[in-house]
Amino acid sequence: MYKAPRGTFDILPQEHPYWKYVEERAASLCRLYGYQPLNTPIFEDAQLFTRTVGKGTDIVDKEMYVFQDKSGHELALRAEGTAPVCRAYLEHGLFNLAQPVKLYYIGPAFRYERPQAGRYRQHHQFGFEALGEADPVLDAEVIEMACRFFLSLGLYGVSIQLNSIGCRLCRPGYLEVLTRHYASYANSVCPDCKARLTKNPQRLLDCKNASCQEIAKSAPKPSDYLCHDCQLHFLSVQEFLVALSIPFQLNHRLVRGLDYYTRTVFEVEPEGKGGQSTLGGGGRYDDLIETLGGNPTPAVGFAAGLERIILNLKRQNSDIPALPRPLVFVAYLGPEAKVEAMKIASQLRKAEIATILAAGDKSLKGQMKQAGSSGSTYALILGQEEVTNRNVVLRDMRSGEQRIIPLADVAMMIKPR
Ligand code: HAM
Repeated sequence: MYKAPRGTFDILPQEHPYWKYVEERAASLCRLYGYQPLNTPIFEDAQLFTRTVGKGTDIVDKEMYVFQDKSGHELALRAEGTAPVCRAYLEHGLFNLAQPVKLYYIGPAFRYERPQAGRYRQHHQFGFEALGEADPVLDAEVIEMACRFFLSLGLYGVSIQLNSIGCRLCRPGYLEVLTRHYASYANSVCPDCKARLTKNPQRLLDCKNASCQEIAKSAPKPSDYLCHDCQLHFLSVQEFLVALSIPFQLNHRLVRGLDYYTRTVFEVEPEGKGGQSTLGGGGRYDDLIETLGGNPTPAVGFAAGLERIILNLKRQNSDIPALPRPLVFVAYLGPEAKVEAMKIASQLRKAEIATILAAGDKSLKGQMKQAGSSGSTYALILGQEEVTNRNVVLRDMRSGEQRIIPLADVAMMIKPR
């Protein structure tokens, strides 16, 4: 027996109300803020991620699904959504439009991680990106949008963690101080952090290992080493958030796991849960588009994981609207009734009435059981007698009430709710 690959799963029909609910809220949020949809391919040139997310990050070093196609091109399954959006922005000359260009996406991302609750090898992200503007008002707007999204879903207790990690001018100085600080702990940190000391010192700050977290507490803070412009930007973002009444917590150890960030970084945490279950994260990435060969183009964005959102909706027993049920179930007894039933079902569907036709020549009892579990409002029952008399039994599935109506009147009698 084949199974879905480890870390992936099927989204069964009963799960779809959650997915539809979240996707619809995402799309209506984006309409509200003027973001337009963009779909990018499931795979990209592997270099797109290596150059932006960065060597030395877990995503690039350990988690990317990289493969060669038949002509030897090195491709990678989409590991995240931001770099592909920037690639599309450059490829289609979107920098010629009025800036900022605001785009959103919903789709799968692939990371070879150790599967556990809320962590999968294929997961789905909803993300939005504002490209071509450095104004901190956009950082605040993106954070506000993330908050409004979770609020509109009915998820309560989410919190925003905020930090600034500076720019390419001030960060090197900070990293020097940080590396010096860690030199005396080189033998006390975990093996991953030992590697980070040379490869990606900033990530020392957010190691999940308990003893590394203790060491990180006394580490110098990125926000104490910001250049004047980055300081002003960070202060403005905070002022704007206060003006918008968006509560946030400054977290000096928040650095994010992707290398392209500059200045603002933020994460959204669900109620009462640790870092593992982060609902979403984002920030500024003012150098990314330049790294891909474009002109200097500041940008800011956010992405959230749909699986984690749904996990939290379930945890909080949220009320999710059910998907529409079929209105009619057509049951029959005997070969002639079967043909008539098929014709009725076809007519009803032509009249936009959602209809299920029984199949497989089950007993009437079996068919009515199926009608019940389909959630249909009505059942139509046809036997030889009804065919001869050109009528049909109409059963109200909730009350159990039955009456006989002329076959010709069926579509008219069953009005959609
Ligand atoms: P990220 O933090 O790597 O950021 O991923 C965004 C969200 O995707 C996470 O907060 C989490 O909810 C979800 N996620 C990530 N990995 C997994 C996984 N293995 N299983 C389940 N859910 C997962 C980014 O990808 C950036 N592109 C976000 C961004 C957009 N920054 C600026 N714009």
